[in-house]
This record gives sequence, structure tokens and C-alpha cells, in this order.
Amino acid sequence: GEIGDTPVYIGGQQFAAWKHTQLILDAVPGRGGMFSLDNGREQRFLVRGRAFDMQEIDMLDPVDRVRAMRAALADDPHRFWLDQARRISWSRFPTRSDDSSFDAGDFAISWFSDGELNLCVNCVDRHLETHGQKTAILFEGDEPGEGRRLTYRDLHEEVCRFANALKHLGVGKGDRVILYMPMVPEAAIAMLACARIGAVHSVVFGGFSPDSLADRINDCGARVVVTADQGMRGGRPIALKANVDGALAHCPAVDSVVVIRRTGADVAMIEARDHRWEELRETVSPDCPAEAMAAEDPLFILYTSGSTGKPKGVLHTTGGYLLWANLTYDILFGGRPDDIFWCTADVGWITGHTYVLYGPLSNGATTVMFDGVPGYPDAGRFWETAGRLGVSVFYTSPTAIRALMRDGDEWVERHDRSSLRLLGTVGEPINPEAWNWYHRVVGEGRCEIIDTWWQTETGGALIAPVPGETATRPGSATKPLPGVHPQLLDADGALLEGATEGNLVIAQSWPGQMRTVYGDHERFFQTYFTTYPGKYFTGDGARRDADGYYWITGRVDDVINVSGHRMGTAEVESALVAHPRVAEAAVVGMPHDIKGQGIYAYVTLNKGEEADDELRRELRQWVRQEIGPIATPDAIQFAPALPKTRSGKIMRRILRKIASGEADGIGDTSTLVDPDVVDRLINGSESAF
Ligand code: WTA
Repeated sequence: GEIGDTPVYIGGQQFAAWKHTQLILDAVPGRGGMFSLDNGREQRFLVRGRAFDMQEIDMLDPVDRVRAMRAALADDPHRFWLDQARRISWSRFPTRSDDSSFDAGDFAISWFSDGELNLCVNCVDRHLETHGQKTAILFEGDEPGEGRRLTYRDLHEEVCRFANALKHLGVGKGDRVILYMPMVPEAAIAMLACARIGAVHSVVFGGFSPDSLADRINDCGARVVVTADQGMRGGRPIALKANVDGALAHCPAVDSVVVIRRTGADVAMIEARDHRWEELRETVSPDCPAEAMAAEDPLFILYTSGSTGKPKGVLHTTGGYLLWANLTYDILFGGRPDDIFWCTADVGWITGHTYVLYGPLSNGATTVMFDGVPGYPDAGRFWETAGRLGVSVFYTSPTAIRALMRDGDEWVERHDRSSLRLLGTVGEPINPEAWNWYHRVVGEGRCEIIDTWWQTETGGALIAPVPGETATRPGSATKPLPGVHPQLLDADGALLEGATEGNLVIAQSWPGQMRTVYGDHERFFQTYFTTYPGKYFTGDGARRDADGYYWITGRVDDVINVSGHRMGTAEVESALVAHPRVAEAAVVGMPHDIKGQGIYAYVTLNKGEEADDELRRELRQWVRQEIGPIATPDAIQFAPALPKTRSGKIMRRILRKIASGEADGIGDTSTLVDPDVVDRLINGSESAF
């Protein structure tokens, strides 16, 4: 047929419809949407306006597409963002785009505020007509080959049932639901079900202790918890249901627990409170209408560690978050309808939200959910599984890469990796050695490495190379994505230009930005927007080279990044001082070959207490129990005293130097009450491990 007056948009750019290339389009009548097409080179694009089933248009190369986006953005940001909004389906299309301000006077973060949509519809329903039989979730269990496939149609039915079950338990729009789950499809199903009925999910990583879980449940005021009998990781069971029972002793508001069968272990079920999903499932209908949500209605809360106090509930809302997940997945990893995408993160972290689920599913892709660990049953697991499943895009953490690199090339080389086309990393700075190994050995030198810098707070990637557009450099996350405005500032807030190093801030809002700290908007403002007024402070330091590439140097605040997991030093300290024999504790990060950073704790005991290896073991175990295994200190140094200034402030700078084995660089200690403390600490540091 003729293209007539139907405007065709690709990546928000009106398409040059008058250059003719034969293409087959399979479009949904009367609606904009996202479709696969085939002109030999497959691509995704957006159509708005009239229906048609066959048109002649030409294609923009993915790189041209991103360049066109940058140009359109420079030209008219408001129009650009509304065009981008067409990537997703709205029940009411927005007329507003960015209404945000980082200034104290009119502080607000708001995107597409008059739009209405449902995230679940975008991730599931809208794919049914065009590719309902396509695999949405490819589940790979702990044991190789233990798996399941869910098509978009299967997913739709399961999500509707789960949504009805939640409703049956009294969950409605705005209610919070806690998920404490293994990496099984039911985790995705429960998250999507919450979104479908407008409930707010908060996933708590299955490695957190009952106490940590209880804190999160109480902070967000959830009444319903979804969990599994047990998890199974690396051949070892994880007592998820038992941990929930432990937590709920401190959570009087919770009246319902949904328990998914994972291992079939015999677990305690409390009458009237606990429900087996498999039984509930049979009682509910497979149809469930989706709530129309305002773009700024809450979508989820995810707790993350900061420099002070307890973990904060990062709140993301519906429209902007979904758009950012959709857009960044598309330009970084997407583009081919037959891709099998595998992000190895757990859904308990932001990477699992955005790039295991919402990014790929909103793009109609096939996403792998992996419930195992990289070293089980052996160090070849990732590559064996990637080859068997035909994974084309693989996304993991530098920690995993470093650990596998140490195990040797033969574990990689014995498996066929020919299906891989792109490799990504996230979560921590990647050292050039690991980057090169990933590129050369895993990717056989063929696959680009997409090092993505972002945070729980940012919703999705902000600085990362666009495949084909940005030439990569080992160790650099390269350049900002369209719509992202990073700056480097010195300690006084002065803007640094050109090649330089400083504190990384973002000068303007982007759609995926967090909207508040749940229940504490003032803390949100204080934490992120007061260090450098008018800018979002990331907590990271970065270097920028003469070509404008960013090299993230790591946290500049009291957050440590252990294997890509954020841990607040204050949290570990408060766990340690809760031990009856501990008087005082100071925790800092130390360099760690595999984990990037390790946890180094200086501990002062109560008068009369004896320091020995037995107590060191006990304290490590104590912290595991208080917070979870990821918080286990790598080193504990018993210190008779800590270096303090006259005003009583612990000089962490000195503790960091000692923990890093850089005692030579300590510098001026004259402001300390007792400078001799430093020498005693240096001498005692060898016994810390
Ligand atoms: C660090 C994970 C260097 C950074 C998505 C950030 C990185 C923190 C990178 C956020 C990267 C994440 N290069 N550092 N590519 N990606 N980081 O909230 O310090 O768990 O502030 O989000 O991880 O961790 P979060």
C-alpha cells in the first residue's frame, strides 16, 4: 500500500518515508506500538496513526537512529520526549514531558504527569496480538537444564491469576507488597501482577537476613509477603520461608503470605496467614483487567544503602521509569527480535528490575531468568548455559568476570559462544584487565563490551556506549546516553571543564530518575540535592578524558561496593556495636582482587574483653545474621583505640589508607588527639584477616 499521510516514527524521529525499501510491517490496527519487521536486517520501530499491514519505508541504522535522537533532543526536548513516549502504550497519552526542578524553591521530579498507562499492559498484553507465542521468560534453574519457558501468552495468564490472587487477599491500588524470592518466573509474575492492579512491589534480595527483611517490611508498611518454600543456589538450599517467619515475628501488620513451591521442602504453614500459590492459583480467574495508572503513580520501592542510617526506600514511578527502561534496553541491547537476552542479576537489585524484566519485556524480547551461580556446577556454567540457550546478549558484573578469569580460559573455551553478539557489564568499575579478558576470551574479540554506569536511583543506564556509535575503551563507561547531562564538580561545587577529575553530578532530570525516598521526601532532597545545590549528586567520583569519556573511579561517600552490591559502612558498624562485647566499630572499604571492594572493620572491645580468632569468627557470623552474608567483613582488626580528632570524629581517611596497605600515604595526623594510635593500628593490621 501507500504510506500516504501516516507518519512513521523510529526512535522518536519521524521517518523519511519517501526513500523506498521494501518492508513487511505487522501492525496493530489503529494503535501505535512496537513491531518486528523483516527487511533482511531486523529492527524495531514505532508506528502511530492509521493502520496498515504493508508499507514501503526505509530503515535507519541503529547508530543513525541514536544520532537522530541526539539531534532531535537538541532541537526540541519537549517534542523529543513526547515522541519517545510513543515507545510505550498509554491509555491517555501525555501532553506534558519534563516538569522537574532540582532547586530547593520548586523542587519536583515529574515526567509525563498527565499521561495514564499500565506497566503490565506494556510488558505483556500489548505483545499478545503480534507475538503471543514468543518466549517471554526463559527460566534456567540452579541445575543445568532445569528450566521452563513462558510465552507472552503464558505470562499473561499467570500474571492475571496472580493479580486476582492478590486482590483476593485484599491488595489494591497503592498497597505495598514485599517479595522475598528466588529467581524463578513467579518472581516476575508477582511483580507484574502488582503493577497490573496498581500495587507497589518491593523486592528484598533473598540473601538478606530476617532482621533486614523485617526492617523493610515495616518501613513500607506491607501487609502481604510473597516468598518461596526455599531457594536453591549452587546446590544449597536457602531457607526463604523460615526467614520470612523469623521476620514476621516483628511485623504485626502482615496478615498474608503467599508461598511458592520451589524445592518442595516441608515448611511450616500458619493457618489463615500462609497460602500456597499452587492452591490459590486454582481458585482464581485467568482474566484480570489492568488498572489505569497515572504516570507518576508509584511502581516500586527498592531499598538501597547510603552513607548514613538505615537503607532507604528508593521509589520509582510508572511512566518515566518504564520509558527509561524501554529506551535504554532498546538502544544498548535491543534491536533484534530473535535476541535471547541474559542479564545475570537477581531481581532483588535494580539491575534485575530494569534489565531482567521491564526493559526486555516492554520491548517484547526474550529474557533469561537464572536461579544459579556462576561457579556451579563448575566455572563453565555461564558459557555452557549461554551456548545451550542461544544467548545473544549477555550482561553481568565485573566481580563475576574477575572470578571466572581467575579460573582460567579453558572453562570458557570448551563451550560454544558463537551465539553471543554483545557483552555488557554493570555494578562497579571494571578494571581494564578484566575488560580485555571479557572481550578477548569470552567474546572472541567479536563482541562489543557495553560497560553501563548507573544506580538504583537512576532507574536505568545513564553513561554507556551505544553499540556501533561509541568506540569503547577498556575501563570506561564512555559517554552519556541521550538526555543525560553529567558534570564534574570540585569539592566546593565549582564546575570543572575538559579533561579533569571530580565528583559526578547530573545537572537535569531524566525520565528514569527516582522520585522520592519512601516516606521521607525531605531525606531524598537532603541526600541528593544539597551537597551541590541544583544538581543531583551521584555519590561517585569520575575522571573525564580529553575526548569526553567518563571513567568512574568509585564512591566518594561512605558506601562500599562489594561485588557490585552496595553496603553502607554505617549499617555494618551498627551491626557490630550491637554485639555485647563490642564498644566501638569503624568500617571502611579495602581493595579486593575479585570483589572490587572488601569490608574492613576496626573493632574496639569493651573493657576486659579478650580479642582472639574465636571472637573474630563470632563477629563475622554476627554480621551475617544481622544483615546478611553480603555484609560479612573480610577483615576485622581489633583496635584498642581509633584515630579521632579533638572533636571526637573518627578520621576515616586514615583507616582507609591502613586497610588498603598504603600506610605510607597517610599524611598529616597532627589534628589527632593521640597520633600514636596510628602506628599501633598499622602494626596491628596484619592480624586483621
Ligand atoms: C557503581 C547498580 C563503575 C557506582 C546498577 C554506583 C559502577 C553504584 C558502574 C550503584 C559502572 C555501577 N562502573 N561503577 N559501570 N555501575 N557502579 O545502586 O559506584 O546497586 O554509584 O546500582 O555502583 O549501585 P546500585
